[in-house]
Amino acid sequence: MNNKNIIKQGLLSKRGVFLKTWKKMWFVITGNVLSFYKSKKGKFPKGLVPLTQGVTIKVVKKRRRKWVFCVQISKKKTYYLSASSEKERKEWMQAISGTIEMNQTDKVTLKDFQLLSVIGRGTYGKVMQVKHNETKEIYAMKILQKGMLAKEKQIKHTMSERNVLMRVKHPFLVKLHYSFQTLEKLYMILDYAPGGELFRRINDEGKLPIDCTRLYVAEIILALEHLHKMDIIYRDLKPENVLLDQGGHIKLTDFGLVKTDLHKKCGGKTRTFCGTPEYLAPEIILDKPYDETVDWWSLGILLYEMLVGVPPFYCELAEEVYELIIKSKLKIPFYVDDEAKDLIEQLLDRNPKTRLNIEEIKKHDFFINIDWEKVYNKEYEPDYIPKIESETDVCNFDEEFTEEVVVDSLVKVSAIGKVDEKAFDGFTFMKKVDGLGMMND
Ligand code: ADE
Repeated sequence: MNNKNIIKQGLLSKRGVFLKTWKKMWFVITGNVLSFYKSKKGKFPKGLVPLTQGVTIKVVKKRRRKWVFCVQISKKKTYYLSASSEKERKEWMQAISGTIEMNQTDKVTLKDFQLLSVIGRGTYGKVMQVKHNETKEIYAMKILQKGMLAKEKQIKHTMSERNVLMRVKHPFLVKLHYSFQTLEKLYMILDYAPGGELFRRINDEGKLPIDCTRLYVAEIILALEHLHKMDIIYRDLKPENVLLDQGGHIKLTDFGLVKTDLHKKCGGKTRTFCGTPEYLAPEIILDKPYDETVDWWSLGILLYEMLVGVPPFYCELAEEVYELIIKSKLKIPFYVDDEAKDLIEQLLDRNPKTRLNIEEIKKHDFFINIDWEKVYNKEYEPDYIPKIESETDVCNFDEEFTEEVVVDSLVKVSAIGKVDEKAFDGFTFMKKVDGLGMMND
């Protein structure tokens, strides 16, 4: 079996269907089935349990056996399983329910959403606020024009990451709920962050207060730590990708350029060039192999920008920005707090080997009064709570986007002039506009 497709595997006890005796068996979750084998070495499964729509899982209390749960396939078919600890049972139940959820999301299409507003535009396409027709849940829909993505490989890469991203669950990361594609586009249905971009706050206020910066940075650190644990390098950390949720806490978005499986590439290093110039680590610019420490460099740039208002290596021309990142001496204004200054200097270390790592960052004096568990549990109150009048309020997004034309037609003119009606089949639009009734994203 291809190890890459294994979501979880291990020993569980299974209750026999007829004799009702418990036997240890080796269980494996792959794309959409839970298979069980006589032992780890078993070649052929003794049974296959589909993890598709309608399957439910529950904790079961048994007098003689601990940590039991059941997977119910239909009224007549239920599998009883037991783990070796509470923690194990929780992990198995989470993995199984995550897989069921993922398989249910396969059938989602554009028809399931009502388009509300345009809230952003990136290099690859735009972001819209949408409402799920049935659940009425509000999401952000990211539309990626396949033509804008550099290569076919990148499209496959983005889609292959879907499975990983759907399993990423963290308080400070935007969750990917569904994704689907048409001939021309990729669609990602993500958590909607109503507070908008941190970029806008820095723009409006010039610089951010130190304590507010400390909490933002602490939340970003936990988000990056979680991604790194899943072998994902974020690489694209910049204020535009740092969003604020309803309570003013951080939500990192845009995993379009993340790279998974970094340990499989070049002995733990990976080699792709991407990202925004001001935030790029020197080793990426120099086309050297790199690892997750590039995110700690970008964090140093972000911390500087929050406290100073502009990034440390800044110039109109990208080429000159690269030069500055590689060579220029870091200058930190006198008014920056001493501990923050020291942390910035140690994050913006051009040598990735001596750059601070996650443990050193969390122990740095800048965070001396920070309890990381409290950060994770959102027990620190952000000083800025976004003003949101209703769940569909888009006042925290630029009018440049929110006033953009949204039409009630199902017609879409593609970038190359072809009409892509199928893509928008059944897609309803909320706002009426004057004009042609066409949309170009
Ligand atoms: N979720 C993902 N991307 C988003 C964005 N740009 N704005 C709001 N919520 C989002």
